[in-house]
Amino acid sequence: MKKNYYNFLDLGNQPLANFYIKKKNLKKNEKKYRLKIRFDKESKLVSITKTFSSKTMFNNEYPYRSAMSKTMKNSFLKLSKEIKEKIKPKKILEIGSNDGSFIKNFNKDMTIGIEPCANVEKITKNKRFNTYPNYWNVSLANKILKKHGKVDLIYSANTISHIKDLDDVFKAIKIILSLNGTLIIEDPSLLECLRNNAYDQFYNEHIYVFSYLSINNLVKKYGLEVYRVDNLEIHGGSIRYFIKSKEKKQKIEKSVINQKMKEIKFKLNSKISYYNFAQRVKKSKELLIKLFKNCKKEEKKIIGYGATAKSTTVLNYCGIGKDYIDYFLDTTRDKQNKYTPGTKILIKKYSIKQMKNVDYVFLGAWNFKKEILLKEKKFIKSGGKFIIHTPQPKVL
Ligand code: TYD
Repeated sequence: MKKNYYNFLDLGNQPLANFYIKKKNLKKNEKKYRLKIRFDKESKLVSITKTFSSKTMFNNEYPYRSAMSKTMKNSFLKLSKEIKEKIKPKKILEIGSNDGSFIKNFNKDMTIGIEPCANVEKITKNKRFNTYPNYWNVSLANKILKKHGKVDLIYSANTISHIKDLDDVFKAIKIILSLNGTLIIEDPSLLECLRNNAYDQFYNEHIYVFSYLSINNLVKKYGLEVYRVDNLEIHGGSIRYFIKSKEKKQKIEKSVINQKMKEIKFKLNSKISYYNFAQRVKKSKELLIKLFKNCKKEEKKIIGYGATAKSTTVLNYCGIGKDYIDYFLDTTRDKQNKYTPGTKILIKKYSIKQMKNVDYVFLGAWNFKKEILLKEKKFIKSGGKFIIHTPQPKVL
Protein backbone atom coordinates (compact mmCIF):
# COMPACT_ATOMS: atom_id res chain seq x y z
CA MET A 1 0.00 0.00 0.00
CA LYS A 2 1.23 3.49 -0.82
CA LYS A 3 2.10 5.64 2.19
CA ASN A 4 0.06 8.80 2.46
CA TYR A 5 2.61 10.62 4.58
CA TYR A 6 6.11 11.90 4.02
CA ASN A 7 8.71 12.40 6.77
CA PHE A 8 10.70 15.41 5.68
CA LEU A 9 12.77 16.68 8.58
CA ASP A 10 14.82 15.10 11.36
CA LEU A 11 15.76 17.52 14.15
CA GLY A 12 17.66 14.90 16.12
CA ASN A 13 17.39 13.83 19.74
CA GLN A 14 15.60 16.42 21.80
CA PRO A 15 14.58 16.84 25.44
CA LEU A 16 11.03 17.90 26.35
CA ALA A 17 10.99 21.59 25.53
CA ASN A 18 9.46 23.18 28.63
CA PHE A 19 11.19 20.88 31.10
CA TYR A 20 13.66 23.31 32.68
CA ILE A 21 16.06 21.50 34.97
CA LYS A 22 16.44 22.21 38.69
CA LYS A 23 20.04 22.36 39.92
CA LYS A 24 19.62 19.24 42.08
CA ASN A 25 18.54 17.27 38.98
CA LEU A 26 21.38 18.33 36.70
CA LYS A 27 23.07 14.95 36.88
CA LYS A 28 19.87 12.97 36.27
CA ASN A 29 19.06 11.56 32.84
CA GLU A 30 16.60 13.65 30.87
CA LYS A 31 13.78 12.14 28.85
CA LYS A 32 14.77 12.44 25.17
CA TYR A 33 12.95 11.69 21.94
CA ARG A 34 13.60 11.86 18.22
CA LEU A 35 12.05 14.96 16.70
CA LYS A 36 10.92 14.14 13.17
CA ILE A 37 8.35 16.02 11.13
CA ARG A 38 5.73 14.56 8.82
CA PHE A 39 3.47 15.86 6.07
CA ASP A 40 0.23 14.00 5.48
CA LYS A 41 -0.53 14.21 1.77
CA GLU A 42 -4.25 13.65 2.22
CA SER A 43 -5.18 15.86 5.18
CA LYS A 44 -2.27 18.31 4.51
CA LEU A 45 -1.52 18.17 8.24
CA VAL A 46 2.07 18.68 9.33
CA SER A 47 2.89 16.98 12.61
CA ILE A 48 5.69 15.60 14.74
CA THR A 49 5.98 11.81 14.64
CA LYS A 50 6.69 11.02 18.29
CA THR A 51 4.25 12.42 20.79
CA PHE A 52 3.89 12.48 24.55
CA SER A 53 0.67 12.38 26.55
CA SER A 54 -0.90 15.64 27.67
CA LYS A 55 -0.41 14.48 31.26
CA THR A 56 3.36 14.30 30.71
CA MET A 57 3.64 17.72 29.07
CA PHE A 58 1.01 19.83 30.80
CA ASN A 59 1.30 19.27 34.52
CA ASN A 60 1.31 21.39 37.66
CA GLU A 61 4.83 22.66 37.03
CA TYR A 62 4.09 24.22 33.67
CA PRO A 63 6.16 27.42 33.34
CA TYR A 64 4.53 29.33 30.45
CA ARG A 65 2.60 32.52 31.31
CA SER A 66 0.82 34.55 28.63
CA ALA A 67 1.12 37.75 30.66
CA MET A 68 4.94 37.65 30.34
CA SER A 69 4.85 39.76 27.20
CA LYS A 70 3.20 43.06 26.38
CA THR A 71 2.68 41.84 22.82
CA MET A 72 0.49 38.95 23.97
CA LYS A 73 -1.48 41.06 26.44
CA ASN A 74 -2.15 43.72 23.81
CA SER A 75 -3.17 41.13 21.26
CA PHE A 76 -5.72 39.60 23.65
CA LEU A 77 -7.03 43.05 24.57
CA LYS A 78 -7.48 44.04 20.93
CA LEU A 79 -9.28 40.83 20.08
CA SER A 80 -11.50 41.13 23.16
CA LYS A 81 -12.58 44.64 22.11
CA GLU A 82 -13.43 43.38 18.64
CA ILE A 83 -15.40 40.44 20.03
CA LYS A 84 -17.41 42.77 22.25
CA GLU A 85 -18.16 45.17 19.41
CA LYS A 86 -18.76 42.78 16.52
CA ILE A 87 -19.62 39.29 17.78
CA LYS A 88 -21.31 40.31 21.05
CA PRO A 89 -21.34 36.85 22.66
CA LYS A 90 -23.24 36.12 25.86
CA LYS A 91 -20.99 33.32 27.03
CA ILE A 92 -17.36 32.62 26.19
CA LEU A 93 -15.31 29.51 26.73
CA GLU A 94 -11.54 29.54 26.40
CA ILE A 95 -9.64 26.30 25.81
CA GLY A 96 -6.18 26.79 27.33
CA SER A 97 -6.91 29.89 29.40
CA ASN A 98 -3.43 29.94 30.96
CA ASP A 99 -3.11 32.85 33.43
CA GLY A 100 -6.37 34.49 32.29
CA SER A 101 -4.76 37.09 29.99
CA PHE A 102 -7.71 36.77 27.57
CA ILE A 103 -10.72 36.10 29.81
CA LYS A 104 -9.83 38.91 32.19
CA ASN A 105 -11.01 41.33 29.51
CA PHE A 106 -14.62 40.15 30.03
CA ASN A 107 -17.09 39.99 32.92
CA LYS A 108 -16.38 37.01 35.13
CA ASP A 109 -19.92 35.69 34.86
CA MET A 110 -19.71 35.35 31.09
CA THR A 111 -16.45 33.38 30.85
CA ILE A 112 -15.38 29.80 31.41
CA GLY A 113 -11.70 28.86 31.24
CA ILE A 114 -10.17 25.45 30.68
CA GLU A 115 -6.56 25.14 31.85
CA PRO A 116 -5.17 21.69 32.68
CA CYS A 117 -1.96 22.96 34.32
CA ALA A 118 -3.22 23.33 37.89
CA ASN A 119 -0.41 25.71 38.92
CA VAL A 120 -1.47 28.14 36.18
CA GLU A 121 -5.23 27.60 36.57
CA LYS A 122 -4.88 28.55 40.24
CA ILE A 123 -4.07 32.11 39.16
CA THR A 124 -7.54 32.60 37.67
CA LYS A 125 -9.37 30.47 40.23
CA ASN A 126 -7.94 32.67 43.00
CA LYS A 127 -9.39 35.69 41.19
CA ARG A 128 -12.80 33.95 41.18
CA PHE A 129 -12.95 33.18 37.50
CA ASN A 130 -14.89 30.10 36.40
CA THR A 131 -11.93 27.95 35.45
CA TYR A 132 -11.44 24.21 35.31
CA PRO A 133 -8.07 22.45 35.82
CA ASN A 134 -8.89 19.82 33.19
CA TYR A 135 -7.91 18.64 29.72
CA TRP A 136 -10.29 19.59 26.95
CA ASN A 137 -12.25 16.56 25.77
CA VAL A 138 -15.76 15.21 25.20
CA SER A 139 -16.39 14.22 28.80
CA LEU A 140 -15.40 17.69 30.07
CA ALA A 141 -17.58 19.35 27.42
CA ASN A 142 -20.57 17.31 28.62
CA LYS A 143 -19.86 18.27 32.23
CA ILE A 144 -19.66 21.95 31.34
CA LEU A 145 -22.77 21.77 29.19
CA LYS A 146 -24.73 20.43 32.16
CA LYS A 147 -23.46 23.15 34.46
CA HIS A 148 -23.35 26.21 32.17
CA GLY A 149 -25.37 25.38 29.04
CA LYS A 150 -24.15 26.16 25.52
CA VAL A 151 -21.67 28.93 24.78
CA ASP A 152 -21.75 31.20 21.75
CA LEU A 153 -18.02 31.86 21.49
CA ILE A 154 -15.08 29.53 21.90
CA TYR A 155 -11.55 30.91 21.76
CA SER A 156 -8.37 28.91 21.83
CA ALA A 157 -4.89 30.31 21.28
CA ASN A 158 -1.84 28.08 21.00
CA THR A 159 -3.63 25.10 22.47
CA ILE A 160 -5.41 23.03 19.79
CA SER A 161 -2.05 22.39 18.10
CA HIS A 162 -0.89 20.87 21.41
CA ILE A 163 -3.62 18.19 21.52
CA LYS A 164 -3.06 14.96 19.63
CA ASP A 165 -6.64 13.72 19.39
CA LEU A 166 -8.17 16.37 17.16
CA ASP A 167 -11.30 14.29 16.64
CA ASP A 168 -12.03 14.46 20.36
CA VAL A 169 -11.25 18.21 20.40
CA PHE A 170 -13.77 19.02 17.68
CA LYS A 171 -16.45 16.62 18.94
CA ALA A 172 -16.18 18.37 22.31
CA ILE A 173 -16.43 21.78 20.63
CA LYS A 174 -19.57 20.69 18.76
CA ILE A 175 -21.19 19.63 22.07
CA ILE A 176 -20.83 23.02 23.70
CA LEU A 177 -20.93 25.57 20.86
CA SER A 178 -24.37 26.91 19.90
CA LEU A 179 -25.40 26.55 16.27
CA ASN A 180 -25.02 30.27 15.72
CA GLY A 181 -21.79 30.41 17.66
CA THR A 182 -18.26 31.36 16.66
CA LEU A 183 -15.09 29.36 17.13
CA ILE A 184 -11.80 31.26 17.03
CA ILE A 185 -8.60 29.26 16.84
CA GLU A 186 -5.15 30.84 16.82
CA ASP A 187 -1.92 28.94 16.23
CA PRO A 188 1.46 29.38 14.50
CA SER A 189 1.18 29.55 10.73
CA LEU A 190 2.83 26.80 8.73
CA LEU A 191 3.35 29.16 5.81
CA GLU A 192 5.26 31.63 7.99
CA CYS A 193 7.18 28.79 9.63
CA LEU A 194 8.40 27.57 6.24
CA ARG A 195 8.99 31.05 4.83
CA ASN A 196 11.08 32.05 7.86
CA ASN A 197 12.91 28.74 8.20
CA ALA A 198 11.52 28.73 11.72
CA TYR A 199 12.07 25.03 12.32
CA ASP A 200 11.93 25.75 16.05
CA GLN A 201 8.14 25.89 15.77
CA PHE A 202 8.56 22.13 16.07
CA TYR A 203 8.95 20.65 19.55
CA ASN A 204 7.08 18.11 21.61
CA GLU A 205 4.20 20.44 22.54
CA HIS A 206 3.58 21.56 18.97
CA ILE A 207 2.15 18.28 17.75
CA TYR A 208 0.76 20.11 14.72
CA VAL A 209 1.69 23.28 12.87
CA PHE A 210 -1.51 24.18 11.05
CA SER A 211 -2.10 25.78 7.69
CA TYR A 212 -5.41 27.09 6.39
CA LEU A 213 -5.47 24.07 4.07
CA SER A 214 -5.21 21.55 6.90
CA ILE A 215 -7.56 23.43 9.24
CA ASN A 216 -10.18 23.68 6.52
CA ASN A 217 -9.94 19.91 5.82
CA LEU A 218 -10.23 19.26 9.51
CA VAL A 219 -13.19 21.44 10.44
CA LYS A 220 -15.33 20.46 7.48
CA LYS A 221 -15.55 16.93 8.95
CA TYR A 222 -17.53 18.47 11.79
CA GLY A 223 -19.88 20.61 9.70
CA LEU A 224 -17.81 23.74 10.30
CA GLU A 225 -16.16 26.21 7.96
CA VAL A 226 -13.61 29.00 8.16
CA TYR A 227 -15.20 32.37 7.31
CA ARG A 228 -12.30 34.71 8.09
CA VAL A 229 -8.56 34.50 8.48
CA ASP A 230 -6.30 37.05 10.21
CA ASN A 231 -2.54 36.89 9.89
CA LEU A 232 -0.83 37.96 13.11
CA GLU A 233 2.77 38.69 14.04
CA ILE A 234 2.28 36.76 17.30
CA HIS A 235 4.66 33.86 17.95
CA GLY A 236 6.64 34.59 14.82
CA GLY A 237 3.60 34.49 12.51
CA SER A 238 0.26 33.03 13.54
CA ILE A 239 -3.13 32.65 11.95
CA ARG A 240 -6.39 33.40 13.68
CA TYR A 241 -9.17 31.31 12.10
CA PHE A 242 -12.77 32.45 12.56
CA ILE A 243 -15.02 29.41 12.19
CA LYS A 244 -18.79 28.88 12.12
CA SER A 245 -21.20 26.08 11.44
CA LYS A 246 -22.02 25.54 7.77
CA GLU A 247 -25.72 26.19 8.45
CA LYS A 248 -25.11 29.66 9.83
CA LYS A 249 -25.69 32.27 7.15
CA GLN A 250 -22.61 34.43 7.11
CA LYS A 251 -20.39 35.54 4.28
CA ILE A 252 -17.05 33.84 3.72
CA GLU A 253 -14.62 36.76 3.73
CA LYS A 254 -12.00 37.48 1.10
CA SER A 255 -9.20 36.81 3.55
CA VAL A 256 -10.04 33.10 3.37
CA ILE A 257 -9.53 32.77 -0.37
CA ASN A 258 -6.44 34.99 -0.14
CA GLN A 259 -4.87 32.69 2.44
CA LYS A 260 -5.79 29.62 0.42
CA MET A 261 -4.16 31.07 -2.70
CA LYS A 262 -1.02 32.09 -0.80
CA GLU A 263 -0.62 28.60 0.60
CA ILE A 264 -1.20 26.91 -2.73
CA LYS A 265 1.23 29.28 -4.42
CA PHE A 266 3.85 28.28 -1.83
CA LYS A 267 2.93 24.62 -2.54
CA LEU A 268 1.94 23.79 1.01
CA ASN A 269 -0.19 21.06 -0.54
CA SER A 270 2.72 19.19 -2.07
CA LYS A 271 5.84 17.54 -0.72
CA ILE A 272 8.35 19.62 -2.70
CA SER A 273 7.87 22.57 -0.37
CA TYR A 274 8.72 20.42 2.62
CA TYR A 275 11.74 18.90 0.93
CA ASN A 276 13.06 22.39 0.13
CA PHE A 277 12.37 23.57 3.68
CA ALA A 278 14.39 20.66 5.09
CA GLN A 279 17.34 21.66 2.88
CA ARG A 280 17.13 25.25 4.11
CA VAL A 281 17.01 24.08 7.72
CA LYS A 282 20.23 22.08 7.30
CA LYS A 283 21.89 25.16 5.82
CA SER A 284 20.58 27.31 8.66
CA LYS A 285 22.17 24.95 11.20
CA GLU A 286 25.56 25.19 9.45
CA LEU A 287 25.38 28.98 9.35
CA LEU A 288 24.37 29.35 12.98
CA ILE A 289 27.18 27.12 14.19
CA LYS A 290 29.64 29.08 12.05
CA LEU A 291 28.37 32.36 13.47
CA PHE A 292 28.74 31.19 17.08
CA LYS A 293 32.21 29.78 16.36
CA ASN A 294 33.34 33.09 14.87
CA CYS A 295 32.11 35.04 17.89
CA LYS A 296 33.92 32.69 20.24
CA LYS A 297 37.11 32.87 18.18
CA GLU A 298 37.06 36.59 18.87
CA GLU A 299 36.54 35.76 22.56
CA LYS A 300 33.21 37.51 22.70
CA LYS A 301 30.79 37.01 25.56
CA ILE A 302 27.47 35.55 24.40
CA ILE A 303 24.31 35.15 26.47
CA GLY A 304 20.78 34.05 25.59
CA TYR A 305 17.61 36.16 25.91
CA GLY A 306 14.29 34.37 26.42
CA ALA A 307 14.68 30.69 27.30
CA THR A 308 11.91 29.61 24.98
CA ALA A 309 10.62 26.17 24.07
CA LYS A 310 11.62 27.13 20.54
CA SER A 311 15.23 27.72 21.52
CA THR A 312 15.34 24.21 23.01
CA THR A 313 14.90 22.88 19.47
CA VAL A 314 17.50 25.23 17.97
CA LEU A 315 20.22 24.69 20.59
CA ASN A 316 19.83 20.91 20.72
CA TYR A 317 19.60 20.53 16.94
CA CYS A 318 22.67 22.70 16.39
CA GLY A 319 24.60 21.41 19.41
CA ILE A 320 25.05 24.89 20.85
CA GLY A 321 25.51 24.72 24.60
CA LYS A 322 27.47 26.10 27.52
CA ASP A 323 30.66 26.38 25.45
CA TYR A 324 29.03 29.22 23.57
CA ILE A 325 26.30 30.68 25.76
CA ASP A 326 27.26 31.74 29.30
CA TYR A 327 23.67 32.03 30.57
CA PHE A 328 20.13 32.89 29.54
CA LEU A 329 18.03 35.76 30.87
CA ASP A 330 14.30 35.34 31.26
CA THR A 331 11.48 37.20 32.99
CA THR A 332 9.49 34.04 33.80
CA ARG A 333 9.88 33.22 37.49
CA ASP A 334 9.34 29.49 37.02
CA LYS A 335 12.29 29.29 34.60
CA GLN A 336 14.76 31.32 36.66
CA ASN A 337 17.63 29.55 38.45
CA LYS A 338 16.90 26.46 36.39
CA TYR A 339 18.82 25.12 33.39
CA THR A 340 17.82 24.83 29.73
CA PRO A 341 16.64 21.37 28.61
CA GLY A 342 19.37 19.28 27.02
CA THR A 343 22.00 22.01 26.89
CA LYS A 344 21.93 22.77 30.64
CA ILE A 345 22.64 26.49 30.40
CA LEU A 346 21.78 28.46 33.55
CA ILE A 347 18.70 30.73 33.27
CA LYS A 348 19.05 33.91 35.31
CA LYS A 349 16.42 36.41 36.31
CA TYR A 350 16.33 39.19 33.74
CA SER A 351 18.00 42.40 34.81
CA ILE A 352 19.86 45.08 32.87
CA LYS A 353 22.88 44.46 35.09
CA GLN A 354 23.22 40.98 33.61
CA MET A 355 23.70 42.53 30.15
CA LYS A 356 26.83 44.41 31.23
CA ASN A 357 30.02 43.34 29.45
CA VAL A 358 27.98 41.17 27.12
CA ASP A 359 28.92 41.36 23.42
CA TYR A 360 26.27 39.19 21.80
CA VAL A 361 22.78 38.14 22.81
CA PHE A 362 21.19 35.11 21.19
CA LEU A 363 17.51 35.98 20.84
CA GLY A 364 15.71 32.82 21.93
CA ALA A 365 12.47 34.83 22.07
CA TRP A 366 12.84 36.04 18.46
CA ASN A 367 9.06 36.08 18.22
CA PHE A 368 9.17 39.19 20.45
CA LYS A 369 11.96 40.81 18.47
CA LYS A 370 10.24 44.20 18.16
CA GLU A 371 9.33 44.38 21.84
CA ILE A 372 12.76 43.24 23.02
CA LEU A 373 14.86 45.42 20.67
CA LEU A 374 12.86 48.41 21.83
CA LYS A 375 13.40 47.47 25.47
CA GLU A 376 17.14 46.99 24.90
CA LYS A 377 17.79 50.21 22.98
CA LYS A 378 20.52 51.23 25.45
CA PHE A 379 22.37 47.91 25.13
CA ILE A 380 22.32 48.22 21.34
CA LYS A 381 23.41 51.86 21.46
CA SER A 382 26.38 50.93 23.59
CA GLY A 383 27.52 48.41 20.97
CA GLY A 384 25.71 45.25 22.11
CA LYS A 385 24.49 42.97 19.33
CA PHE A 386 21.72 40.44 18.92
CA ILE A 387 22.06 37.10 17.14
CA ILE A 388 18.95 35.70 15.49
CA HIS A 389 18.53 32.44 13.57
CA THR A 390 15.49 33.27 11.48
CA PRO A 391 14.90 33.75 8.57
CA GLN A 392 18.70 33.31 8.28
CA PRO A 393 21.27 33.18 11.07
CA LYS A 394 22.73 36.67 11.39
CA VAL A 395 23.89 39.40 13.72
CA LEU A 396 21.28 42.16 13.87
P1 TYD B 1 7.41 32.17 24.24
O1 TYD B 1 7.16 33.26 23.33
O2 TYD B 1 6.29 31.58 24.96
O3 TYD B 1 8.12 31.05 23.42
P2 TYD B 1 7.92 29.48 23.46
O4 TYD B 1 6.47 29.24 23.19
O5 TYD B 1 8.84 29.02 22.37
O6 TYD B 1 8.36 29.04 24.81
O7 TYD B 1 8.47 32.57 25.34
C1 TYD B 1 9.02 33.81 25.46
C2 TYD B 1 9.99 33.77 26.62
O8 TYD B 1 10.78 34.93 26.59
C3 TYD B 1 9.32 33.71 27.97
O9 TYD B 1 10.00 32.78 28.81
C4 TYD B 1 9.48 35.10 28.52
C5 TYD B 1 10.73 35.57 27.86
N1 TYD B 1 10.78 37.01 27.65
C6 TYD B 1 11.74 37.76 28.34
O10 TYD B 1 12.52 37.20 29.12
N2 TYD B 1 11.78 39.11 28.16
C7 TYD B 1 10.93 39.75 27.31
O11 TYD B 1 10.99 40.98 27.16
C8 TYD B 1 9.96 38.97 26.58
C9 TYD B 1 9.02 39.63 25.63
C10 TYD B 1 9.94 37.61 26.79
